[in-house]
Amino acid sequence: MSNAIGKPLSRVDGRAKVTGSAKYAAEYNVPELTYGYVISSAIAKGKITSIDDSEALKLDGVLKVFTHENRPHTAWFDISYKDQDAPPGSPFRPLEDATIKYSGQPIALVVAETFELARYAAGLIQVQYETEEHNTDLEAHLSKAHKPSVGVASLLKPPPPKPRGDFDGAYSSSDAKVAESYVHAVEHHNPMELFGSTVVYEKDGKLTIYDKTQGATNSKMYVTQVFGLSSDDVRVISPFMGGGFGSGLRPQYQLFFAVMAARDLQRSVRVSLTRQQMFTFGHRPATVQNIALGGSKDGKLNALYHQAFGETSQFEDYTEVVVNWGGMLYPAENVTLDYKLVSLDFNSPLDMRAPGGVTGMAALEVAIDELAYKIGIDPLEFRLKNYTEKDMNEDRPYSSKELRACFLQGAERFGWSERNPQPRSMRKGHNLIGWGMATGIWDSNQMPARAEAVLTVNGRLRVSSASADIGTGTYTIMTQIAAETLGMPVEDVFFKLGDSEMPFAPISGGSWTAATVGSAVKNVCEELGKKLFKLAKKMPNSPFADVKHEQIEFADKHLRLKSDPSVSVSLQAIVDQNNGRAVSETATSLPNLLEQRKYTRSTHSAVFVEVQVDEDLGAVKVTRAVTAVAGGRILNPKTARSQIIGGMVWGISKALEEESAVDHRFGRFMNHNLAEYHVAVNADIHDLDVIFVDEVDTIVNPLGVKGLGEIGIVGMPAAVANAIYHATGKRVRDLPIQIDKLL
Ligand code: MOS
Repeated sequence: MSNAIGKPLSRVDGRAKVTGSAKYAAEYNVPELTYGYVISSAIAKGKITSIDDSEALKLDGVLKVFTHENRPHTAWFDISYKDQDAPPGSPFRPLEDATIKYSGQPIALVVAETFELARYAAGLIQVQYETEEHNTDLEAHLSKAHKPSVGVASLLKPPPPKPRGDFDGAYSSSDAKVAESYVHAVEHHNPMELFGSTVVYEKDGKLTIYDKTQGATNSKMYVTQVFGLSSDDVRVISPFMGGGFGSGLRPQYQLFFAVMAARDLQRSVRVSLTRQQMFTFGHRPATVQNIALGGSKDGKLNALYHQAFGETSQFEDYTEVVVNWGGMLYPAENVTLDYKLVSLDFNSPLDMRAPGGVTGMAALEVAIDELAYKIGIDPLEFRLKNYTEKDMNEDRPYSSKELRACFLQGAERFGWSERNPQPRSMRKGHNLIGWGMATGIWDSNQMPARAEAVLTVNGRLRVSSASADIGTGTYTIMTQIAAETLGMPVEDVFFKLGDSEMPFAPISGGSWTAATVGSAVKNVCEELGKKLFKLAKKMPNSPFADVKHEQIEFADKHLRLKSDPSVSVSLQAIVDQNNGRAVSETATSLPNLLEQRKYTRSTHSAVFVEVQVDEDLGAVKVTRAVTAVAGGRILNPKTARSQIIGGMVWGISKALEEESAVDHRFGRFMNHNLAEYHVAVNADIHDLDVIFVDEVDTIVNPLGVKGLGEIGIVGMPAAVANAIYHATGKRVRDLPIQIDKLL
């Protein structure tokens, strides 16, 4: 066997990415390309009363200015199209009419022969507005909250369960109580690659589209539906992304504009957005969370109340799972969970890494720490005392749950037993030292997907599925799965993705790609193996003529007898027998829902953090952190570790830095650039350590993998906040914890 699975294989696409040969959507050059520049609304609410584009159109090389007044008719406005990540409601439609629904809303597209000209021309366009009063302040409008509408999205994002037990009664008779509010700022996705689409207008009017997306098929379906095109007329290609984090789960407006302009002008068009415009198309919503916990003297959690208010737009009910986690993780008998939305005059929020999970756990796990302090019990011991093997919300077992091993191994590695629980008990010079910990949890889902496998005439294996590699290592792990399944060295396996012509794969998000596409790749390679076996049986004097499938295996590029490996035939010899043709197979992989629904399927983590807080300046440094993860089978310890480290970095960033600040007078995110929207940089990151505990799961999917894209961030912010409390004695419940909150 090649035993490719489980090896720390370096990224197979690494060289292409670091040498620049991996091209991004806005880097595909075609002859006579034209360039679009988007104009964004300067007001948050109201309507456009006039757009004067006469000065812009006088410029030589400016081809057209598209506005709501002259937009081409498209099928868009006749159907209610939903993309794969659309929440309940009515998706935003660019240029639908004169209405302004949020600041930064795209209101016009200037197309010119160069990007610079389009941008210059855009500056000459005069837009007049009639403004209406807007509302962008979540905290000021909590009384207007509503229950989210339920839609297809609720399958993956279930509403809170019904209350269990009697929270009020249990809380009032508890020995120790915590009742606090927690506030989180808006965050924006800031992948390095800006959003762009290059639409190539082919001679016959067909469109080849290079798009930045987390799902080539999702973008293709959007274009065909919105513009009323047939499937044959549209191809979306997206082999590489410079970061996604959820920002590419929905087709973004540059795709709409580029396609609209290309069809109207019958020219190839590229539309790329600016960094500022990346702050206009979806964000992690701000939240206000109210948590009340009641515990007994001996350290049992009796009563749990978790209420969250999230914000959404006026046209969609974007929802996240914010409050359900505590009910799953803690065996409290008396639980009430509540989740509400406030509609504001922003664009709809958009999934961002561990949407809802990191938000809810960043509040709940601070509250748990507070309760442990009130009771006077070590926060780790509290969690071990309040451990459950069962998901109490659904009253069903976990398919596997090695969280206890995460607690124990993480604590051991970190040195938690040395901790003096007293706040402000450790110091180094003028730095206060603090240790904090928290739990993480995230879903482990499998979706339907298809894949194709081809044994080429030169004996190599080519596997494909229309998935995405959003920077997670999809290319690499799929190569390993295919290599392992057909006993090939990884050098002879080529995995391709990111093309809507390939077999269907869903959007790459929710940490489900390894499970979803991985299962499809395993399945199609097994099916191809059966086909190869049939061919081998038909070869002249075949030693396999009377052999059954159970008796053979694939190893070292051969098909051979398990009982006697010397009885073998090379894959090359098999394909040579196929009349000079490659051998190919396509297969679908569906989750076994009947079996899976009997279990809750989750990843877990335990996070331990050390901070140093400068007592005079309030500056926080996360000096070290250990995350122990129970994520099922680890396909590649190297890419897996990178996923968790990336999540930990973002967790530090969320805890200490990230905030999209709103000026409510304008209803606008003001710090819409990387100078003022702070993210963690190298100087903020110190010693990060990752442990993967052993976890065997035969339920989640045929590979036993659980997905690692999101679990790394979930527990981190609370662990940082708890460490800051331990260092300083200050409990900050308002993220990010910037310096002023500690002085
Ligand atoms: Mo992730 S927020 O599902 O890309």
